Amino acid sequence: MKRILLLTTVACLFITGLIAQKRILTASHYTVQKKIECSNGTVVSAHPLASYTGLQILKKGGNAFDAFIATQWMLGVVYPWAGTVGGGGFMVARLSNGKIITLDFRDVAPAAATRDMYIDKNGKGDTHLSQNGSIACSVPSIVAGLFAAHKYAKLPMSVLIQPAIDMAENGFAITLMEANRLNKKKPDFVTNNLVTPLFVKEGGWEEGDILVQKELAETLKRIKLSGSKGFYEGKTAAAIEEEMKKTGGLITKEDLKNYRVKFREPTLFTYKDYTVATMGLPSSGGILLTQMMKMVEKRNIGKLGFHTAASMHLMAEAERRAFADRAEYMGDPDFVKVPVKALTDDKYIEDRMKDFDPLVATKSSAVKPGSVKKESEETTHLSIIDKEGNCIAATTTLNAGYGSGVVINGTGILMNNGMDDFSIQPGVPNMFGAIGGEANAIAPRKRMLSSMSPTIVLKNKKPFLILGTPGGTTIPTSVFQVMLNVMEFGLSTEDAINNLRFHHQWQPDIIFVEEGFPLQVQKELEALGHMVKSREGLGRVELIKILPKKIEAAGDNRGDDDAEGY
Ligand code: GLY
Repeated sequence: MKRILLLTTVACLFITGLIAQKRILTASHYTVQKKIECSNGTVVSAHPLASYTGLQILKKGGNAFDAFIATQWMLGVVYPWAGTVGGGGFMVARLSNGKIITLDFRDVAPAAATRDMYIDKNGKGDTHLSQNGSIACSVPSIVAGLFAAHKYAKLPMSVLIQPAIDMAENGFAITLMEANRLNKKKPDFVTNNLVTPLFVKEGGWEEGDILVQKELAETLKRIKLSGSKGFYEGKTAAAIEEEMKKTGGLITKEDLKNYRVKFREPTLFTYKDYTVATMGLPSSGGILLTQMMKMVEKRNIGKLGFHTAASMHLMAEAERRAFADRAEYMGDPDFVKVPVKALTDDKYIEDRMKDFDPLVATKSSAVKPGSVKKESEETTHLSIIDKEGNCIAATTTLNAGYGSGVVINGTGILMNNGMDDFSIQPGVPNMFGAIGGEANAIAPRKRMLSSMSPTIVLKNKKPFLILGTPGGTTIPTSVFQVMLNVMEFGLSTEDAINNLRFHHQWQPDIIFVEEGFPLQVQKELEALGHMVKSREGLGRVELIKILPKKIEAAGDNRGDDDAEGY
């Protein structure tokens, strides 16, 4: 009897081993894998079917760029909440030869946009308009971004886009989270479209329901056939313009045809023995991360301890000061002169912390920008490394969950509400509660200020961390925390992303802590003079850690985020 049991156990272990090695996901049957240890390459994204697609491309001989492109096309189908072709984004990459590149494929304001377009007849900025319907849409730029990234890829675009076409055409089973989100968004989908889109289901969506997107499949086929012109010109562009004309939006065929990506200088800074490469303007992420990391670098943060009131106070004070500068100075560098050098100067940053008191919270009203001469914060991030050592951190966005709620009739394209990332009026908070001024005012063809912070950390000149997250203004502070969790507090890859997070952005003068944050620490922060408020999840970080003998990857527990590797 014992022998049979032993044999059965061995057989079971063998079969389990085989299954573990051969993880097969199909459109209707898949599970989420939160972490993986591997040695060749890995893809972490917001959805298992997207990460899995990227992995198959790596196994097929594609590099990290191929995997990025295929994963992003797939996110556009399986993650309508944030990943669709109606948005824009940024990519930071480190090539296997050590070169670091950053690609800005941020969306832009239409040519007909004007500074005061959201100011109502009473002179007040109307955020309902900047967040809902066609008038909230900026010129979508993800497709242009993927074609620009393709110059570093190995496989033809037709191969990279095909899995997404098939998935859109044949459908896939939606997760419980997606079902709940779609049901919640139903009123907006109904209100913001002349023809009710297929994202609305009578009786409501349930986990496992199959979402088929035939019109989106046709749009992707046009892109496969004609390249980016399949989106920015011809039938797709005409449909976008027509929808805009009918529903009060501004985007024209000319806007689409004129959209251009930009390869920009990366933001690079050192933190102790590490070099951090991240995204510069028009994302504020690079400057914010530089300032926040430098503000804590010489203050023994590791010794203060993880999630102690002392370390959180220090970090929140750094965040407060950095965000005050964001509001005043930052915007599209092609339109406004941003004093980047001054804002990232070591002495300037140290001066900003001169009034830091380890025992008393500064009041935000007392923190002015330095002198240098909420909602659903939806965006999505993916982290990738291939076996050649190419690394990619890319963050893309529709801005709010399901963007403006507008679906372009006949194309399946779900459009962003990126215009809300502008400062629609000085002092009027956007959906992230961020305020801004002239530097981020609306202008034709201008890029709206972002917080997206795709980031790669090098140690001894070699890739060490690849990370990023959605979350609007909470993006830089989440990336800041996760870097410190690994580099200062010694947390494991999973713990670094899954532990509760907190956030301060100068205005409002509050430390937001995720629900469930220990009350004792909250009380200690209040005793220092902070106002503390609890809120729902802060971001969903996708983290890869590269060690000498293995790669660890983890997808955030807060969503369906998934890590695949081999
Ligand atoms: N839409 C979020 C961001 O760009 O920061």
